[in-house]
Amino acid sequence: MYKHASVLRRNEPVQGLTVMSSLKTSASFVTIGVPVWFIVLLLCPRQQGAQLGTTPNIKHIVVGRCYSYITLVNPSLRHDCEEIWRQFEEAVVRQSSCNVTAEDYHQMFYAMPQSWPCDRFLFWSKTRTLMHSYAAVVRHFWTLEDTLVGYMFNDLVWCGQEEDSGFDFSSCPEWSACRNHPVYSLWRQASLNFAETACGNITVLLNGSIANAFNRKSMFGSVELDGLNPHRVDYVNIKVVTNLGGPFIESCSQGSIVDLIQILQSRGFRWTCTDNDQTLMILQCIQSPKQPSCQTCANSLSHRTGLTFD
Ligand SMILES: *[C@@H]1O[C@H](CO)[C@@H](O)[C@H](O)[C@H]1NC(C)=O
Ligand SMILES: *[C@@H]1O[C@H](CO)[C@@H](O)[C@H](O)[C@H]1NC(C)=O
Ligand SMILES: *[C@@H]1O[C@H](CO)[C@@H](O)[C@H](O)[C@H]1NC(C)=O
Repeated sequence: MYKHASVLRRNEPVQGLTVMSSLKTSASFVTIGVPVWFIVLLLCPRQQGAQLGTTPNIKHIVVGRCYSYITLVNPSLRHDCEEIWRQFEEAVVRQSSCNVTAEDYHQMFYAMPQSWPCDRFLFWSKTRTLMHSYAAVVRHFWTLEDTLVGYMFNDLVWCGQEEDSGFDFSSCPEWSACRNHPVYSLWRQASLNFAETACGNITVLLNGSIANAFNRKSMFGSVELDGLNPHRVDYVNIKVVTNLGGPFIESCSQGSIVDLIQILQSRGFRWTCTDNDQTLMILQCIQSPKQPSCQTCANSLSHRTGLTFD
């Protein structure tokens, strides 16, 4: 039950999601009897480079998720959820909202050690939706979201304020606005830990429908790749997946993925690369069965089984 669907990778261009949905909520609260200028004011970003503040009830959410994880998801863990929260708070509050480094979270990470079984690590970049279906179907995969830290902080926003000992619930800077963003720094460290622990065969899911499928600025390209250890990892199995209807921009032999393979090779990794993995295509076809590229599969199946798919 722990393959939950949600936004995780903060450095993928999904930061807008939280803000957008919160804006929608606030807009629906005020549509009755409120002047239009007020709505417009609400919908306009308050300040350049700022977004909505720390997620309300963050303490209850984080501590509650922690108990949920150590009680239901992985009962073998013996972590102290209150202590993890204390270390988290210590790292974030009383800091200017742009001044929290990955190192500031070290004490928190010490309080939550976790190891993972080999051969199950799944990395991804710009393939979030498909990754969720894939991980849900191929149950043995582990993504960052399945780790305690990923589970606890998924989808949340937070920042502190210098003069005060609390979180800033009114606004937090955008990631791009600072070098040491408190949210980014936590994910950066979590991603690095995850990659450093990776062992056996690992899988990397990349998006062949965009240029720079392997992007050196993504969390995979800038943090995780450098954390992988060729002595622990047997094979890096890359899977390049395109949208069913294209565009078909990159593949194992074309574009930035060739650079990735070169980097892996120069660091002594063994690797494989697959275009059009069948499981991934079938998963996509389940979501859009009318796609022309799904028809052959459906037809041959219906001939074989006598079933119709309409
Ligand atoms: C950022 O943090 C460091 C160490 O925690 C501190 O020395 C520095 O003054 C802080 N900078 C700002 C702008 O708050
Ligand atoms: C590839 O990236 C594009 C643009 O971000 C996205 O719309 C599409 O769903 C992605 N494709 C896959 C297979 O994840
Ligand atoms: C690891 O990957 C290689 C290459 O794809 C494959 O031959 C091997 O069987 C895999 N091993 C495991 C344990 O999955």
